[in-house]
Amino acid sequence: MSKTEEGQHKQTDQHDSDSTMSKESKLLAACYAGDCSRVKELAEQGAEIFITDETGRTALHFAAASGDADTVRFVIEAGIPWNALDIGGYTAGDYAETGGHDAAYDALVQAGIRAEMVLRMLNQKSTMDQAANEDYLSQPVKYSGDRLVDAEKNGVMMSWEAPLMELHAQTICSKPGSSVLNIGFGMGIIDTALQALKPAKHVIVEAHPDVYRHMKDEGWDKKPGVHILFGRWQDKMDEIRALGPYDGIFFDTFGEFYKDLDNFHQSIFATGDDVEKKTPLLCKPNGVYSFFNGLGGDHKLFHDVYCHIVKADLLKLGVDTQYSQVSGDADIDEDTWKGIKRPYWMLKAYNLPTCTWTQESS
Ligand SMILES: C[S@@+](CC[C@H](N)C(=O)[O-])C[C@H]1O[C@@H](n2cnc3c(N)ncnc32)[C@H](O)[C@@H]1O
Repeated sequence: MSKTEEGQHKQTDQHDSDSTMSKESKLLAACYAGDCSRVKELAEQGAEIFITDETGRTALHFAAASGDADTVRFVIEAGIPWNALDIGGYTAGDYAETGGHDAAYDALVQAGIRAEMVLRMLNQKSTMDQAANEDYLSQPVKYSGDRLVDAEKNGVMMSWEAPLMELHAQTICSKPGSSVLNIGFGMGIIDTALQALKPAKHVIVEAHPDVYRHMKDEGWDKKPGVHILFGRWQDKMDEIRALGPYDGIFFDTFGEFYKDLDNFHQSIFATGDDVEKKTPLLCKPNGVYSFFNGLGGDHKLFHDVYCHIVKADLLKLGVDTQYSQVSGDADIDEDTWKGIKRPYWMLKAYNLPTCTWTQESS
């Protein structure tokens, strides 16, 4: 036994030597000490693993805080969900990260990826996703100052994202005269940034009637080279294709889910024998695609899991995804989320995706 292991056992022993302690308290103490064999032993003796302390921390939170990846894996295999939150809204990933425990954090990310893959296989039907988008589109939205909000005070778009949109615009439009496609106008921040980069053709797809009206009020329909397609992107694919192919594509909608993003990726990248798929939407080989990467944006662990999943899904379509980290909270202060139902971004680093065809694709 190494010195550290010896120390750990001592720590666990000290913690659970008290005969008045329940088996469950001993189990949490062993998790916190990262003493995997003791955790197993207690579980075999019948200690209930699905317990929490008074702050809602699960055995997984304690295991993650210890930094011991084996304990983390054991506790997950025993059934504690990888994405459990304590009362304060913290994931086990937050505990691992605070302690600087990379291996434990990685074990959580891997568990998250596996769990999401299983869910995906089980969840064959997802009509729910579309209902959410249709609900949003049938209710009014309002522009007020630095934000666009829906009827339930959700932030549809907010001006703190402007520096990120500038970077996204530069990513998909590297030279004047390009042909670009943007899905979702919102506050027109990325479209304004794209216009400054002088594209020859600039196609914008927008589904919300109030946003469409706002676009026309602002004269977007009169700008040279700009084509507005009013409707859901799902219903506009033929027109989008007829105006393509594009040097750059950006995707940022609202009220949609990962499944929709994945469907969009299938639409632009899937190749096959039928005529539609023979002509890719994104120019080959140099076209660049990017999307607003707010996936799981309220918890770093969830976000990291989604970053892996989307990258793997795109790779299956012959697309390489590189993330560049930029500060994602530079323009967020304590007033940013005032009056907004749910802050949708709580992370410090934003992973800006640059997606390109892989070299081997023709
Ligand atoms: C987050 S905002 C886009 C913000 C934009 N990137 C900007 O820089 O201001 C999302 C926009 O997508 C639109 N939208 C939502 N669902 C859509 C869909 N299925 N097809 C097209 N547009 C959609 C919303 O109405 C909203 O205007």
